[in-house]
Amino acid sequence: MPVTSRMEELRTEVSELAAAAPTAQDLMDKMVKLLHNRMLKYNWVGFYLLEPGAEPPMLALGAFEGAMTPHTRIPLNQGICGAAASSGKTVVVDDVSKDARYLACSLETKSEIVVPVFVHGEVVGELDIDSHFPAAFTPEHQSFVQHCAALVGAKLEKSGQ
Ligand code: SME
Repeated sequence: MPVTSRMEELRTEVSELAAAAPTAQDLMDKMVKLLHNRMLKYNWVGFYLLEPGAEPPMLALGAFEGAMTPHTRIPLNQGICGAAASSGKTVVVDDVSKDARYLACSLETKSEIVVPVFVHGEVVGELDIDSHFPAAFTPEHQSFVQHCAALVGAKLEKSGQ
């Protein structure tokens, strides 16, 4: 199936997951599995959430699928993850070897996308995806991953976070 049709299909599936999930945690658990299992180029998929009250602010690894990472807690001034959370902007890196901010998770990783998750306009975490393929995250993928992150933000907002 062409990647566009697969993404369209998955867009519907993640929306259905979100509608059916009893909690945001359940949604994140299921979403990382779905994305990892179904997208060939999504080789590590995980959420980082800001630790409540941590000073300095800290991202903590939440639900993930893929190899264990040494980066279970990331300060906001480090990594691609820190850059996305502190700027509130999606960060796409086509070649991680050329980005000085990159914190290595796996030697196989070639490209990465990190999309912030917002609740009431504030960053509360992010969806991080690593690929073994260079430049895996085209604008089409960015839009899809942003949709996924927005579903989690909406679920957290609904649950009163
Ligand atoms: N590469 C990330 C660290 C997290 S791992 O990819 C799972 C970064 O540079 O922030």
